[in-house]
Amino acid sequence: MLSLIFIFFNLVIIFNGPTMADQSRKLAGIQTSSKLPFPLPNWPPGGGFAGGTIDLGGLQVSQVSTFNKIWAANEGGFNDLGATFYDPVLIPQGFSILGSYGQPNYMPLDGHVLVGNDITNDTSNPTLKPPIGYTLVWSSQSLNIKKEGDGFIWFPNPPDGYRAVGYVVTNSSEKPTFDRVRCVRSDLTDSLKSDGNWIWGPSTSINVNGFNVYGSRPTNRGVGAMGASLGGFVVQNGIGGTTLSLASLKNLKGSLGSLMPNLKQIETLIQTYSPVVYFHPNEPYLPTSVDWFFQNGALVYHKGDESNPNPINPNGSNLPQGGSNDDTYWLDLPKDGSKEKVKKGNLQTANAYFHIKPMYGGFFTDIATWVFYPFNGASRAKVEFVNISLGKIGEHVGDWEHVTLRINNFNGELHSMFFSQHSWGTWVSAWDLEYASGNNKPIVYSSLNGHSSYPKPGLVLIGPVGVNIGLRDDTAKGDKMMDTGLRATVVAAEYLGSAVVEPPWLNYFRKWGPKIEYDLDKEINKVEKIMIGKLKKAFEKIVKSIPREVLGEEGPTGPKVKNNWGGDEM
Ligand SMILES: *[C@@H]1O[C@H](CO)[C@@H](O)[C@H](O)[C@H]1NC(C)=O
Ligand SMILES: *[C@@H]1O[C@H](CO)[C@@H](O)[C@H](O)[C@H]1NC(C)=O
Ligand SMILES: *[C@@H]1O[C@H](CO)[C@@H](O)[C@H](O)[C@H]1NC(C)=O
Ligand SMILES: *[C@@H]1O[C@H](CO)[C@@H](O)[C@H](O)[C@H]1NC(C)=O
Repeated sequence: MLSLIFIFFNLVIIFNGPTMADQSRKLAGIQTSSKLPFPLPNWPPGGGFAGGTIDLGGLQVSQVSTFNKIWAANEGGFNDLGATFYDPVLIPQGFSILGSYGQPNYMPLDGHVLVGNDITNDTSNPTLKPPIGYTLVWSSQSLNIKKEGDGFIWFPNPPDGYRAVGYVVTNSSEKPTFDRVRCVRSDLTDSLKSDGNWIWGPSTSINVNGFNVYGSRPTNRGVGAMGASLGGFVVQNGIGGTTLSLASLKNLKGSLGSLMPNLKQIETLIQTYSPVVYFHPNEPYLPTSVDWFFQNGALVYHKGDESNPNPINPNGSNLPQGGSNDDTYWLDLPKDGSKEKVKKGNLQTANAYFHIKPMYGGFFTDIATWVFYPFNGASRAKVEFVNISLGKIGEHVGDWEHVTLRINNFNGELHSMFFSQHSWGTWVSAWDLEYASGNNKPIVYSSLNGHSSYPKPGLVLIGPVGVNIGLRDDTAKGDKMMDTGLRATVVAAEYLGSAVVEPPWLNYFRKWGPKIEYDLDKEINKVEKIMIGKLKKAFEKIVKSIPREVLGEEGPTGPKVKNNWGGDEM
């Protein structure tokens, strides 16, 4: 995983660097992308899922993950390990290259680019055309770093009515030949931008005034968006520096259902990749199934009639359906003696709830995996060497957490996984995930009390860089764990129409716990009683600088109310 730095207001979080960073490998000759620890199963038959090619509407694309090295910088970029640029090789018959590939040297070769085949037979309006020339975007010639020869990055100048979707990298100053790549007919393209993942720059940190190479993704993303990136890279030459802009591909056919897995295929995907969640050894608040929560005394309250809460049917059929998160109804723990029991959850009955959705024009299947915890414990802080519980801060009833598997629809391979943490999260590539022994199931570490999801165990301090104070997310591999595939329920897959019946509780859009009402200043004062002088000031500053939603004030809403339900993660 790249060292990801998220900036929220004045809050900066730094995640661990790549695990394989120091195993920089000698990359030479023809190589194929890394694979998962175990071979893939045979997917049950049906439809176009894992069919090897995708027809975007007269333009058929296939993905290639075998590459020939063109040029490498052996310095610069993350950890000063450089980057390598490649051309795809072993192109299937009839297909053409659309652009080159590049990636940092700290990771194993892990990627693919798409190649295209015009299947219209229409010579008057082909979906692909060669460029009419090339513009040199950048070369390494004047750069005094360790490099293997010199690299040249070219923008293919498209003919009228066509767009370039990838750059061409060469190791000679001679312009590439016209037949080196193809440009794509404009109606099959959309807009493209950097995905923020730094591939390379000449220095060891991003110099925004200089030259940088980033991964790419379509600008419009979400369940209904039809754009898909080639898998190549974008370049930026200084702030506002002219970059001849590349396009993303666009799925004109729009019939995503035909690329997406059917029910049998979904079942096999879940059995193959279901995340395995490890809880902290001291975790007091475990997950449970929604019907266990309802059957064990959870109550639904109605505004104006607070003294008469109602029990809830096992499938939530007596919860108000639809509407908005308007605080007219809310759920709460039972009032009687079973309250403390329900708070702790019940791992034996815990279910995982799956939402299956198309992403990037049907190139990917996202499998959002939701787990329900009746209670989210208080936030904890680290102030120098002391652990501090923040009292009520962060506590709430009804905690929905998720991770998302991103599956490549060309072959059913796991591409990456999203770990949600508070109101943000991180994507981790499949090669950099930890897997349960003996299978391809990624491991998730759930943080103590707050249940944020992390790819690796340890302590993450949420707060300003360079000081030993912040909110703490602790994860560790305890004895308690949950294979989300053991009790798996697919609760939604809109593209399958009526084949998946959504449980009534999914369409309850109000809060799953009472609105959190406490006086932040008062809570801070309580905690501060045990602190002195300088620590006290620093602590106060940090707690006040943390976005309110981190402290649990976003409200415990259900999966369908969250932005990622119909959108992309982040
Ligand atoms: C230069 O590029 C060609 C492909 O155009 C490649 O076959 C060759 O190996 C490259 N040379 C080096 C030194 O990487
Ligand atoms: C294009 O031509 C090939 C071979 O002649 C044929 O198999 C295919 O069906 C044609 N495609 C279209 C869209 O007409
Ligand atoms: C929900 O459960 C009730 C019984 O508690 C049942 O009558 C109803 O059909 C169920 N609804 C759905 C959508 O499963
Ligand atoms: C703080 O909490 C962490 C995680 O629970 C624990 O490992 C550590 O020992 C605690 N530190 C102190 C000083 O109590």
